[in-house]
Amino acid sequence: MAVTEQQHVSITTEDSILRIRFNRPEKKNAITRDMYTAMADAIVASNTDPSIRVILFEGTEGCFTSGNDLKDFMVAPATDGESPVGRFLAEAAAAEKPLVAAVTGMAIGIGTTMLLHCDLAYASDKAKFHMPFVNLGLVPEFGSSLILPSLIGQRRAAELLMLAKPFGAGTALELGFINAIYEDDEIIDAAMDAARALAAQPPSALRNTKRLMRRGMTEAIADQMREEGECFASSLTGVEAAEAFQAFMEKRKPDFSKFE
Ligand code: COA
Repeated sequence: MAVTEQQHVSITTEDSILRIRFNRPEKKNAITRDMYTAMADAIVASNTDPSIRVILFEGTEGCFTSGNDLKDFMVAPATDGESPVGRFLAEAAAAEKPLVAAVTGMAIGIGTTMLLHCDLAYASDKAKFHMPFVNLGLVPEFGSSLILPSLIGQRRAAELLMLAKPFGAGTALELGFINAIYEDDEIIDAAMDAARALAAQPPSALRNTKRLMRRGMTEAIADQMREEGECFASSLTGVEAAEAFQAFMEKRKPDFSKFE
């Protein structure tokens, strides 16, 4: 049954699974404010809807998401808790139902950091991951500056967040971003199978287990997200981000040599 057929994100239910599909392939599924709002609303509604047992995030063929829409960043830089992106981050991090991801292709920025909040994640063998926040004159978000060093260690986290090295599905598996790799044409079915298996578990025990597994980190992540949010917001209106975004729009390399 279709719940929302918003222009750029399709939100439907199937077998007690809320399927949230990034659906803006002409812009590599870049996420707009409207998309964040639709997703945040859907997560909030799922918390109290017993007919929803699991939430699945998926992309289109060959593309999960290229991250936040860079034009939105330039036009509407607000990222505080009340902003569409701020609401989505908070609601996804606090979602009561299990989150599953089917990384159908490139996963950039929030496309990668959101996996750190998913309970299960699967990727296509062609998926590419990248967290280019620093390249854009920004800082990491979604608690990734805390979760990633604790997941993979300071040195490897610095490669991914400070050098902003892109990586493939094999590395994502080795580092613990994903559970398994599938061929392109199997990825959605595989993620749906996992989501159905979760949906068949006793729901209260499942919710409590999710909560208990995260309990030790919940406050620390929320605190880190607040700090990241403040730093992100001031970076977004700074000169380094302005140069990076302008360069992206003009399809040229940014020049940071003049900044201190
Ligand atoms: N925000 C806004 N528009 C985006 C976008 C984003 N995050 N990612 C891609 N697009 C747009 C491009 O501007 C282009 O639009 P156009 O056809 O009107 O010129 C269209 O999507 C296709 O992208 P293109 O760059 O031509 O595709 P590609 O396959 O050569 O490269 C990417 C794909 C994702 C590697 C590249 O577009 C990119 O680096 N995007 C920015 C990713 C990013 O920095 N995200 C934010 C992280 S915080």
